[in-house]
Amino acid sequence: MRLDLMIRAEVRREDRDAVRRLAESTKFFRPDEVDVAVELVDAFLATGEASGYEFLFAEQNGHVVGYICYGLIGCTLGSYDVYWIVVDQQSQGAGIGRRLLQQAEQDLASRNARLVYIETSNKPQYAPTRQFYLRCGYQIAAVMADFYDDGDDKVVLVRDLRNSNTSSVSAI
Ligand SMILES: CC(C)(COP(=O)(O)OP(=O)(O)OC[C@H]1O[C@@H](n2cnc3c(N)ncnc32)[C@H](O)[C@@H]1OP(=O)(O)O)[C@@H](O)C(=O)NCCC(=O)NCCS
Repeated sequence: MRLDLMIRAEVRREDRDAVRRLAESTKFFRPDEVDVAVELVDAFLATGEASGYEFLFAEQNGHVVGYICYGLIGCTLGSYDVYWIVVDQQSQGAGIGRRLLQQAEQDLASRNARLVYIETSNKPQYAPTRQFYLRCGYQIAAVMADFYDDGDDKVVLVRDLRNSNTSSVSAI
C-alpha cells in the first residue's frame, strides 16, 4: 500500500531522536557526525530561526522517514547550503529525498535565493549520494583534494535557482 508523504517545516523536540535514528540507519555516518546532525536540531530548538538552520521533515503514517537541513551561508547574498539530507535506509529509492530537496528549493526560490550548495565526499561509498544530487539537477562546482582525509576529497555541488524551474514539486 502506498502511504502519502507529509512534509512539515515545524521542528519538534522529538525530532532530535528521529534525526539520530535516521542518520544511524544509513550506516553512512560516524558517531561524531551523527552528534553534529543532532546538534543542529538542538540549535534550532534553542534559538529558532536565529540558529541559521531550517528543516523539513518527511512523515509517512506519522513516522519521520527523512529530513533536510539547510541555511543561508553567512556573508553571502542568497547563497544557501544544504547541510544534511537523510532518508531512512528502509525508505530510500522511493522519491523521498528528491521531494525534500525540491521542496527546500521551492521554499528558497520563493525568497529569491540564488545558489544552493551541497558538499559531499568523493569516496566510493558516496557514489550513490553524488548520483542522487546529479539526478536532482546539481552540478559539480569544485573538488578539493584530501579535504576530509588523505584520499577523501570534498566535492562541492551547486544548483543555480535563477535558471531552474522549481515551481513543481513532484508527488510520490
Ligand atoms: C541520498 C539520499 C538522501 C537520497 O534519497 P532517496 O529518497 O533515496 O532518493 P530518491 O528516491 O528521491 O532518488 C532521486 C533520484 O536519485 C537517484 N538515486 C537515488 N539513490 C540512488 C542510488 N543509490 N544510486 C543511483 N541513483 C540514485 C534516483 O535514481 C532518482 O533519480 P531518477 O528519479 O531520475 O531515477 C538517501 O539515499 C540517503 O539518505 N543516503 C544516505 C545518506 C546520505 O548520503 N546523505 C547525504 C549526505 S549528508
